Amino acid sequence: MTDDNAIPADAGVAGLRVFVTGGASGMGAAAVKDFARHGARVFSFDLNDAAGEEIVKAARAAACSPGSAEYLNCDVSDEASVQAAFAAAAGILGGLDVLIHAAGVAPGAPADQITLSGWEKVFAVNATGTFLANQAAFELMKDTGGRIINFASAAGIIGLPNKAHYSATKGAVLAWTRTVAKEWGRHGITVNCLAPAIETPMYLKTRSLMSEEALAQLDARMASDMPIDGKLGDPDRDLAPVLRFIAGPGSRFMTGQIFAVDGGIVMTR
Ligand SMILES: NC(=O)c1ccc[n+]([C@@H]2O[C@H](COP(=O)([O-])OP(=O)(O)OC[C@H]3O[C@@H](n4cnc5c(N)ncnc54)[C@H](O)[C@@H]3O)[C@@H](O)[C@H]2O)c1
Repeated sequence: MTDDNAIPADAGVAGLRVFVTGGASGMGAAAVKDFARHGARVFSFDLNDAAGEEIVKAARAAACSPGSAEYLNCDVSDEASVQAAFAAAAGILGGLDVLIHAAGVAPGAPADQITLSGWEKVFAVNATGTFLANQAAFELMKDTGGRIINFASAAGIIGLPNKAHYSATKGAVLAWTRTVAKEWGRHGITVNCLAPAIETPMYLKTRSLMSEEALAQLDARMASDMPIDGKLGDPDRDLAPVLRFIAGPGSRFMTGQIFAVDGGIVMTR
């Protein structure tokens, strides 16, 4: 059955105006390159200017018309910084269709040793950053509709030892996502989040801080609990295509969801 308003599901992301926070590294960087390669007009935001510029340079080199990629410094935990960066980018692109909000930090510490300042710092980036970036995107999308994709984590669902503060921020991202999905649906905006298990600099840093024994336990657990591959996925192969689907017309009827892109880890619990 068809309907007059149906957008062809194969329309893809070409021509869409896409903001990517955390675009200098990991999954954000993969999104910047992949979306430009598929014809989207991308703005990347990060604190790491050197890496951010490098990524958009690579994205421009591989872009397909009308794809483009630009970079702006933006601290997602700072309201003025988010407002200024989003306004500047929307001014250049003429609006916003998709926000991919990948900026985040993942410090580790045993729960009883987390300091108040450590707690506040990870909440400022992961939870407040989601709130600020989503609100700023809403202002740009509320009359036209759009897609917001946040990054939660399995940590926010099943917990993650040594990362209680990080896990708590991801629980907040999940609850925020579901709530604004309910509020903003009438504006034609879908809001979803991911629970990825993807090899990125964040994951490699976490591994580098683990003892040999803890690493062996982690690898054994992944081998037994992850039905696909038994190890973390690749950002370009396993994550970017999922982002493109959620950002594109084919996902218009899906909102408030948490998509586990994790080889099946969460499903097995
Ligand atoms: N890698 C995984 O398997 C995994 C699992 C679960 C959740 N996540 C989440 O996915 C998202 C992306 O993670 P990744 O693995 O690609 O990490 P990453 O460390 O490779 O990239 C994160 C980026 O965010 C940027 N950033 C940090 N603080 C910022 C701020 N205040 N303002 C703007 N940019 C800032 C960093 O500079 C970096 O470029 C994060 O929210 C992370 O918590 C990752």
